[in-house]
Amino acid sequence: MTNQYSLSGPDSNEPTELARVEGTLGTPAVDVRGLNQKAGVFTYDPAFTATCSCESDITFIDGANGQLLYRGYPIDQLAEKASHLEVSYLLINGELPSQDQMDTFRESITHHTMLNTSLMKFFDSFHYDAHPMAMMTGIVGSLAAFYHDTTNIHDPEHREIFAHRMIAKIPTIAAAAYKHSVGQPIMSPNNELGYTANLLRMMFAVPAETYEVDSIASKALEVLFMLHADHEQNASTSTVRMAGSTGANPYAALSTGIAALWGPAHGGANEAVLNMLNEIGDSSQVSKYVEKAKDKNDPFKLMGFGHRVYKNFDPRALVIREYCHQVLDHYNTHGHRLFDLARELEKVALEDDYFVERKLYPNVDFYSGIIYEALGIPANMFTPMFAIARTVGWCAHWMEMMNDPGTRIARPRQIYTGYTKRDYVDIGHR
Ligand code: CMC
Repeated sequence: MTNQYSLSGPDSNEPTELARVEGTLGTPAVDVRGLNQKAGVFTYDPAFTATCSCESDITFIDGANGQLLYRGYPIDQLAEKASHLEVSYLLINGELPSQDQMDTFRESITHHTMLNTSLMKFFDSFHYDAHPMAMMTGIVGSLAAFYHDTTNIHDPEHREIFAHRMIAKIPTIAAAAYKHSVGQPIMSPNNELGYTANLLRMMFAVPAETYEVDSIASKALEVLFMLHADHEQNASTSTVRMAGSTGANPYAALSTGIAALWGPAHGGANEAVLNMLNEIGDSSQVSKYVEKAKDKNDPFKLMGFGHRVYKNFDPRALVIREYCHQVLDHYNTHGHRLFDLARELEKVALEDDYFVERKLYPNVDFYSGIIYEALGIPANMFTPMFAIARTVGWCAHWMEMMNDPGTRIARPRQIYTGYTKRDYVDIGHR
C-alpha cells in the first residue's frame, strides 16, 4: 500500500491522505475506511458500482477483456478439462486436488446427499404451483433448524462440513422441489452416480421405471455448473457475505443468496430469456423487440444482455454458445429454432448503436436456457440449476469471510433525505 490520494472534507482544510489498495490483478482501490473520522464525509455509491467490499483470492474478472479466472485458472480451460466437483474443490480449498484429495472429497459429498426425513415433509406443505426457487429458499433456510447447535461457525472443520453438506444436498433439494411441482414421488439420491447424473436421475426417474442417465446431458450440466460456480462479489454472493457477517447460521445465510439469485436481473435471467424468445416467436419480430428494448418508456429489456462487469464479452457466453451446437445437434429441433432466433437477436443487437455505445453483450444466461430446454429441463428449473452451481461460490466466499480475522458486520451508511426533526402532533390535530 502507498498513500496516493488525498481529499478535503467540509470539516477540515487539511487534505486527508487515503491509501491505495492493490491486489495481484485488476483495478486498484482507494481505502476510504477512515474517511468519515478524518474528513467528516461518507462515500456515496448506490448499487456499489465503484466499491470493493472485501479482499478475496477466489475469483478474478477482467470485464474489459472478458477474462474469468477461478483461483487463477481460466474458465474455458476448466470448462473443457475439469469436472464440477473438481472445480468445487478448487474454489473451496484454493488448489486443484490430487487424485487422493479428489477421491476423499467426492466420498464426502456423496455421503451428504440425503435429506433428513423430517425436512422432506416440508415439501408437502407447499402448494403444487410454488416456484421451485421459493421452495429452495425455504428449505435451505430450514436446514439451519437441523444443523444449528452442531454448527460452530468459528471452527474451520465445521465450516468445511457445512460446505460439503450444502454442495451435496442442494441437487437433492432442487430435484425434490421439481418433483413436488409435477406431483411425482421424490426420488432419493443414488450415490453410485456422479454429481450431475444423480441430479438428472432425481429429477426425471420415477420409481415405476428404470432410468438410464443420458451421458450427453450430464456432461452438459457439468459444463454449465462449472461456468456458473462463482463470479466474485455478485449480488447473491454479496448477500450471503452480508448475512454471514452478522454471525448468522450459514444455512440461513445461504438461503438469502438463493433469494437474491432469483431476480431477473441476476440468476432469474435464464428463465426470462427463454420466455422472451418464445414471446418474440420468429425472426420477423426481432427488430420490433430490439426497438422496445431501446425505448426508455418501455420496461422491456433484452434479457440475457448486458453485465455490470463485462463490457466487451462474457467468456462464459462464448463457451456456452459453442456448446449449444453440440447439444442441439444431439437433441431436438425446437431448440435449434430458439438458438437460431437467439443468434439473430444477438446479431441485430450487436450492430445497433444503442447496444454498441453501452457495451451491452450477451451474458452467460443468453444461451444457457436453450441448453437446459434441449435437455428437457422446464423453464422454472433454470434458475434452480444456477443455484446448484453457485452454491459452491457462496460456500467458498462464506468460508473465506469467516476465516478472515478482519471480518466485521457489513453495515453501509446512507444519505438521509427525509424530514428534518419535527414534533409529534396529536391525532385529533392532524
Ligand atoms: N436491454 C436494454 N438496455 C439495457 C440492458 C438490456 N438488457 N441492459 C442495460 N441496458 C441499458 C440501461 O438501460 C442503461 O441505459 P442508459 O445508460 O441509457 O440509462 C445502460 O444500458 C447501462 O445499464 P445499467 O442498467 O446501468 O447496467 P447495470 O450494470 O446496472 O445492470 C444488468 C446490469 C445485467 C442488470 C442489466 O444489463 C440487465 O438488466 N440485463 C438484463 C438481465 C440479465 O441478463 N441479467 C443477467 C446478468 S448475467 C448473470 C448473472 O449475473 O446472474
